[in-house]
Amino acid sequence: MRGALITIEGIDGAGKSTLAAGLVRAFRSLELLREPGGVELSERIRALVKDPALRVDPRAEALLYAAARAQLVAERVEPLLAAGRPVLLDRFVDSSLAYQGAGRALGVDAVRAVNAFATGGLVPDLTLLLALDPAQGRVRAAGRGEAPDRLEREADGFFARIGAAYAALAREEPGRWVVLDAAAPPDDVLAAARTAVDTALGGRA
Ligand SMILES: Nc1ncnc2c1ncn2[C@@H]1O[C@H](COP(=O)(O)OP(=O)(O)OP(=O)(O)O)[C@@H](O)[C@H]1O
Ligand SMILES: [Mg+2]
Repeated sequence: MRGALITIEGIDGAGKSTLAAGLVRAFRSLELLREPGGVELSERIRALVKDPALRVDPRAEALLYAAARAQLVAERVEPLLAAGRPVLLDRFVDSSLAYQGAGRALGVDAVRAVNAFATGGLVPDLTLLLALDPAQGRVRAAGRGEAPDRLEREADGFFARIGAAYAALAREEPGRWVVLDAAAPPDDVLAAARTAVDTALGGRA
């Protein structure tokens, strides 16, 4: 049987990586990969898209993320799923719909088309949305003490558009998305997510 594909989405600092780590501890069969990245080519593209010193046009940005995603899917995700392994992705196509489609105003449908090509039409079985007020996300991301990357330097309106786009995507496909209150304590977020993941894995941990 094909493995389940589970993705985690949300604005910067919402707690995606924190939740991913908790889920991997709870479900040992999950293979965790991050986006952009996860394989050599995609990690190199990650360094490009995050570099504050580079000029990156919105269309180039959308294509760079899609290229990173295409390689990750071909090299790791598809082979794992085909072998029956469940995969957990820290961001996936919906990040591009929200960040490049809405945040950069390229249009969600245009970015969706590019990503359908990149991934061969791969759609997650379950998407966990960590819903958080963008201002709170900023405070959390700043609290990590790392210099803000190229996207994290954007103005508040950029993150407001992204938050609204995520909410709209979740409303459009309620069967795939589970919305979690990311303002809750980490253990509560993890507990709510565990229930959804358990169902997606069909009770197979
Ligand atoms: N539920 C929570 N309540 C309070 N703080 C949290 C919660 N979840 C995560 N944090 C803290 O918020 C910060 C950001 O968390 P994390 O790195 O997991 O976010 P992220 O969504 O992966 O961010 P990015 O998009 O930048 O990768 C970290 O310092 C983390 O410890
Ligand atoms: Mg993270």
